[in-house]
Amino acid sequence: MSTGNADYRDSGLVFPDEFVFGSATASYQVEGAFDEDGRGPSIWDTFSKTPGNVWNGDTGDVAVDHYHRLDEDLDLMQRLGLQSYRFSIAWPRIQPPGSGPVNPKGVDFYSRLVDGLLERGIAPIATLYHWDLPQPLEDAGGWPARDTAYRFAEYARHAGEALGDRVHVWTTLNEPWCSAYLGYGSGAHAPGRIDGADSLRAVHHLNLGHGLAIQQLRDVVTKDDAQFSVTLNFHVLRGVDDTADEAKRRIDGLANRAFTWPMLRGEYPADLLQDTSSVTDWSFVQDGDLAAIHQPIDLLGVNYYSTATVRVWDGISPRQNNDGHKDMGGSAWPGADDIEFLAQPGPHTAMGWNIAPEGLEELLVSLSGQFPGLPLMVTENGAAFDDVVEDGAVHDADRTDYLRRHFTAARRALQRGVDLRGYQVWSLFDNYEWGYGYSKRFGIVRVDYDTLERLMKDSAHWYAELIKTRTIPD
Ligand code: NOJ
Repeated sequence: MSTGNADYRDSGLVFPDEFVFGSATASYQVEGAFDEDGRGPSIWDTFSKTPGNVWNGDTGDVAVDHYHRLDEDLDLMQRLGLQSYRFSIAWPRIQPPGSGPVNPKGVDFYSRLVDGLLERGIAPIATLYHWDLPQPLEDAGGWPARDTAYRFAEYARHAGEALGDRVHVWTTLNEPWCSAYLGYGSGAHAPGRIDGADSLRAVHHLNLGHGLAIQQLRDVVTKDDAQFSVTLNFHVLRGVDDTADEAKRRIDGLANRAFTWPMLRGEYPADLLQDTSSVTDWSFVQDGDLAAIHQPIDLLGVNYYSTATVRVWDGISPRQNNDGHKDMGGSAWPGADDIEFLAQPGPHTAMGWNIAPEGLEELLVSLSGQFPGLPLMVTENGAAFDDVVEDGAVHDADRTDYLRRHFTAARRALQRGVDLRGYQVWSLFDNYEWGYGYSKRFGIVRVDYDTLERLMKDSAHWYAELIKTRTIPD
């Protein structure tokens, strides 16, 4: 099936030798074993078990049982030819209460994972926080509380001490936009709180946690060429009418610059502070915080799926809200209640997200212009589709087509001078898609949720060919 964007099909393009092809997952989405070997509860355990929060009441209790199938899954990665594997470390396995001594069995799992990757020639890319905050820290205030940033730095130090001789790339946070605004603003993600001011406090404490964690990691990591990074989900914005500049500026402030500016420039944008002044006075930003946040990093992780179209609401026409995130009654956009997210022209994936590979090229070129000298890595890109198993195979031409177009976009960005180091396809497996439970399948490997058997989809075979030849196949 063709999914539009006809000009993004440059089959035959070759990637440079240094470019790293990998795939990504996250702890709560794949591991299962939710109460084994000393793991404590995270906010996602609590949230998913609260009726009404997740499709079908699905939880990550079993997920794809990666915790128990580690060797089988490592062999699968090797068969695919992956050069890197991006995974996340579950904080509640390392420090079940969120503070205090490490849990040796939790560390052991990640140690075996990292060793298994290295034995197979696969570079480990470890994310410290992919949304599974230990529940006791949420009970003490969660990310709106400043102490959580210090606890995060302490956990980062423990993880760095345990794995810092072997991990190639360290990522502090995954998509802090989601943690802050969906977790504390809209309520669509754990912990499901709805409070605009708290969502901005969370933004700041996530930023602070990032900076403090980078400092701790640099102190304890012993692998000389280890790299330090953060992964952000950038919003690539489109406008439709004469409010375009204003609407784009405001959402860019909340979604993108609220993270990139403190982390990479050491300041919050003045327009963001002004735009949100009816929600908070930002007095939780203390002296010295911005210097702590503004740490040199070696790599910026970019997660990209689609674009968003915004306009300032005229106050008359029926309100639209198509920002692609389940609205639980709150708002993911504090201080921007008058901004509308408009329906996007297709084609769309099963998430309802529009397919726009040109947005990825544009984003990479824009970031390399905004932050010259900072290498980039696509840490997530991929698509959910309603797969069908036919005679023991999944002919997911739509997913392959999506990947082909986005790899084309990445290759074109390289051609335009962007220092893009690699690409981690989301996701290696079908897995727990947060509020959508198991209803959305992003994997290039299918998981049968009854038997937990793995099956390489056609897109996985296509990707294996790309990795082997370093050339975009047909
Ligand atoms: C962003 C998140 O990092 C990941 O956990 C999620 O499954 C994918 N994008 C798809 O929504």
